[in-house]
Amino acid sequence: MTETLAPPTGPTIKEQGGALLAHAAGYASHRTITVGLRSGLLEELGRAPAGATPDELAERLGLDPFYVSVWCRAALSAGVCDRDGDRYRFAPHMATLLLDRGSPGYVGGVFTLMEQREMFGRFEDSLASGERLWWDECSHDWIAGVAGTGTPYYSRLVPGGLGQVPGLAERLAAGGPIVDSACGAGVGVVRLAEHFPACRVVGVDGDAHSIEQARGRVAEAGLADRVELHCSPLEQLRVDRPAALIVNNISMHECRDIDVVTENVLAALEPGGWFVISDFPFPDSEAGLRSVPGRVMGAIQFFEAQIDDQLLPRAYYDDLLARHGFTGPGSASLTPMHALTWGRRPAP
Ligand SMILES: C[S@@+](CC[C@H](N)C(=O)[O-])C[C@H]1O[C@@H](n2cnc3c(N)ncnc32)[C@H](O)[C@@H]1O
Repeated sequence: MTETLAPPTGPTIKEQGGALLAHAAGYASHRTITVGLRSGLLEELGRAPAGATPDELAERLGLDPFYVSVWCRAALSAGVCDRDGDRYRFAPHMATLLLDRGSPGYVGGVFTLMEQREMFGRFEDSLASGERLWWDECSHDWIAGVAGTGTPYYSRLVPGGLGQVPGLAERLAAGGPIVDSACGAGVGVVRLAEHFPACRVVGVDGDAHSIEQARGRVAEAGLADRVELHCSPLEQLRVDRPAALIVNNISMHECRDIDVVTENVLAALEPGGWFVISDFPFPDSEAGLRSVPGRVMGAIQFFEAQIDDQLLPRAYYDDLLARHGFTGPGSASLTPMHALTWGRRPAP
């Protein structure tokens, strides 16, 4: 008697092939977007709300008309553009998402950042050696690119995200020092100083080039009289005056010693002062890892690995703050790739 074999379960080879091709398609759309960003094609489309033909775009930018027509069709495939006859124009919201650095929804910076060597190229080259690096060895372009992708995180944090922390807005309206720990190139210190005019803002970062960039940004914004900048590891964080608020934007997971930094933050706060961690909530489930936000955060992990850390699940910060004696814990999800966690220094 012959045994009947159970039919195979799980996805078919056709379905798995489709899943792989979706990755290749994503790569094609990604490259279409970065070509459009770097060449000025996307910016030129933004200047033509009624649309433009490939020939018109080519003429305006001094590019080859045939190549531009190929790019336009690929941008249509990617959903970045719509087409009306032979005229292309931005699909709804795409101009804001790709070009408007001030928008809380801005994602344009992610595309060009992912193509920089620090993300995948250097990782692949160092796969055998496992050689690590730190921010002072990263290119200046990388630091500028990270500041660009960090910008919408600050736009969502200040003032909207901070507005979700009970009692904080009232305290800041009355003035009180704010510290941006790991302030990078200064986008956040400028935003904090502009939104909380009664407050002094201190930015601290361990990377000298980032602090230099921050100085330039603060001076350009005319805020040098209210913003102080220091180059120092957070593991040695000290403040002259206790802070009403300490924020950390997309950097807490990078601490060399996260417990020492959390202790330092607690010590640097006034009684009742707040620590707000604004970070990527790395998925802690397989379904989360396979989601679109999970896959983008998975890409960021390639860079994080090289600086010897990894993004952390949001709940990690609940435990961190609790074990260091913070009270009044809270959290909020701002987007699937952005979450806040906060706690307060106990009042006596
Ligand atoms: C991803 S960037 C974010 C910068 C900025 N918060 C932003 O959102 O644009 C991380 C920053 O954290 C700084 N950093 C990482 N670990 C640090 C540490 N232990 N002490 C001080 N700065 C640190 C780096 O120098 C870098 O500027």
